[in-house]
Formats: sequence, structure tokens, C-alpha cells
Amino acid sequence: MPEKINVAVVGASGMVGGELLNLLEKRRFPVRGFIPFNSGRKPEAVTFRGKKHLCRKPSFAALKKADLIFFVSTDDVSERFAKKLAAAGVWCIDDSSRFRLDRTVPLVIPEVNASEIKPGHRLIAGPNCTLTGAAVALCGIHKRFRIEELRVSTYQAVSGAGKSAMRQLEAELEHYLKRGRVPELKKRKFPHPIAFNLFPQVGGFDRNGVSIEENKVRAELRKLWSSPKLKISSTAVRVPVLRGHSLSVWAKTRRPWTLAALRAVLAKTPGLEFFSDPYKYPTPLAAVKTSGVKAGRLRASGTSPREFQLWIVSDNLYKGAALNSVEIAEYLVKNELL
Ligand SMILES: NC(=O)c1ccc[n+]([C@@H]2O[C@H](COP(=O)([O-])OP(=O)(O)OC[C@H]3O[C@@H](n4cnc5c(N)ncnc54)[C@H](OP(=O)(O)O)[C@@H]3O)[C@@H](O)[C@H]2O)c1
Repeated sequence: MPEKINVAVVGASGMVGGELLNLLEKRRFPVRGFIPFNSGRKPEAVTFRGKKHLCRKPSFAALKKADLIFFVSTDDVSERFAKKLAAAGVWCIDDSSRFRLDRTVPLVIPEVNASEIKPGHRLIAGPNCTLTGAAVALCGIHKRFRIEELRVSTYQAVSGAGKSAMRQLEAELEHYLKRGRVPELKKRKFPHPIAFNLFPQVGGFDRNGVSIEENKVRAELRKLWSSPKLKISSTAVRVPVLRGHSLSVWAKTRRPWTLAALRAVLAKTPGLEFFSDPYKYPTPLAAVKTSGVKAGRLRASGTSPREFQLWIVSDNLYKGAALNSVEIAEYLVKNELL
């Protein structure tokens, strides 16, 4: 592949940014020029292809020099730059939540809905890292048997909340190992200590008591599957796992199935590794830095006809963010859009 693309990464010094750089390198994405950006609050360099690059504060003029920009920083930064740059002809892949539900912006997981990518849409959003696992794993079953209702409990890793959240867990663990108790840190990302703990809160709550994360799961999955009437309820839980989101799912279909038929569909679902042996279920630790989504423990729910249960795991920093964005970029190159 010719090295023809000038790439900018906004948020290169973050958790997703770091993985994005590794993946661009590892997957030999055809990068010609590379420019990293961060908040500019403190000088920070990132290494790309063995060379150190100092991160800069983003400006429209500096970003416009790129052919392709990965936005992996904050909603505000994406809001400030992404639409304007896309209108100026730059391809923008945005991992923030700012444009995911914007009707003019495709929300894309390539193996689920790559057909949404069109030359006229230079801004493409990647979905929330939690629902990615369900969107990929259940896509084949949804197409064949039509999922009408979905109930999900999520077990979300701390890295889903960025590097300051990772630091909170590390600091709490260090304190515990030295002093034998989990501290109530003054400066912390989460509402509670997370070491040896968990809590049913990811983001704030709306007036109905639904968390921001739970609302994202519902709205984004409906958009990704083009299924606005899909019924979804979820409980999002933060757990003391460094990396890898797990989902416990109950899904009810319109059409009847047999477990053998579900197994056959899961085995062929693009982007999914399915474990049919109940003892070989995936875990977040085993999913770290692996591509795609993993699922196991398929069974009939036993409480309602046409309802089955599944356990799903994916690396939130890989398929949940950086890898999905790189795969979108690879799709653009492969289809000569970029
Ligand atoms: N973590 C996940 O699992 C995950 C999954 C899906 C999507 N996302 C989304 O991906 C984005 C990045 O998440 P993350 O977990 O990587 O966060 P993070 O670890 O906190 O990193 C944030 C990055 O954004 C940069 N940044 C902050 N303010 C900025 C500004 N005003 N201008 C330019 N850069 C700025 C930071 O730079 P400094 O180093 O200078 O602070 C850092 O490089 C977020 O939009 C998040 O919602 C994250």
C-alpha cells in the first residue's frame, strides 16, 4: 500500500489515542505525515514508528493539513472542529459521543453497517464502547430471528473512563497494598472507591433515574441496527477491571429458533469469536488487545419463550474504540474513498 495519507490524532496522549497509534503502526496503515494533538496543558510526546512527536494544541489551520483525523479526545473538542473540517473536505473519524445520534452523521461498526459509509459523509462516528460488543455479537441473530427485546447488564472496566480513572484504581490499589485499606481519595474520577468495589453508575442520571451510559446503549444500538422500535433496558455497572467490558444479555426474538440454529449463526457472525463449550467463556483479561468481540454461555433463558442468554466480552480500547476507528479508516482506503 502506498504511504499517502496525512494523519492527525487529536487526543494522542490518551488511553484510546495510545492504542490508536499502536494499531496504525501494527496494521501498517499507509501514513505519510503524522501529527499528534493533546490539550497542550503540559508538554507531552508520543512515539510513532520509533520517532518521538511532540503533541500540540489543536487549531483549525493545523488540522486542515491532514487528510484524515481521528478524534479521540473530548465531546467539546469534536464539537469545535469535526463538522467544520469534514465540510472542508477532511475525513474525520470521531470516537466521542458528540455526533453519534446526529442524523447527518453515520454511526459505524464496519462489520455491522459499513454500507452507511458514503463519499458525501466525511464525518463518521464510532459507537460507545459498551454496546459495541452486543451490536457485533447479536447482529447475525437480529438479522435472521429479529430481536425485539434486549435486557443487558454491563460490567465496565475503568479504562472506559480514560486515563484519570485508571490512575484512581492504581492509586487505590497501591494504598491498599501499603496500608491495608481502600482510601477515599480527594481527587478521584468516580463517585466511589473502585478497588475491590463496584457500583451501578456510569455517568450521571436523567430525571427518570436512567444513567447516561444506559441511554447511550439504547439510542446507539437502535441507530446502528436501524431498528428504532427495538426495546432495550440495561444496567451499567463499573467494576474494578482495568480493561475489557463484559455484558450479560437476555434477548427475545420475534421468530422461533433452536439453540443449534443460534449457535450456527453465532459461529458465522463477522467479527465474533463464539465459544460453544460452556467452560470456555471469554473473560476481560483474556480479551485484552485482541481484535473483535467474544461470546459464550449461550442458553435458553427458561423464563420466556424465544428468549436466550449470552455472555459477551470485548476490549473497550480496541474494538470499543481505537480498533473500530482504524477499521473504518481501512474501509475508506480499501474502497478508494480516501
Ligand atoms: N476509553 C474508552 O474505552 C473509550 C471507548 C470509546 C470511546 N471513547 C472516547 O474516546 C475519547 C478519548 O477517551 P480516552 O479514554 O482516551 O480519554 P483520556 O485517556 O482521558 O484521554 C483524553 C485525550 O484527549 C486529550 N484532550 C483533552 N482535552 C483536550 C483539548 N481541549 N484539546 C485537545 N486534546 C484534548 C487529552 O490530552 P492531555 O493528555 O493533554 O490531557 C488526552 O490525549 C473520549 O471522547 C471517549 O468518550 C473512549
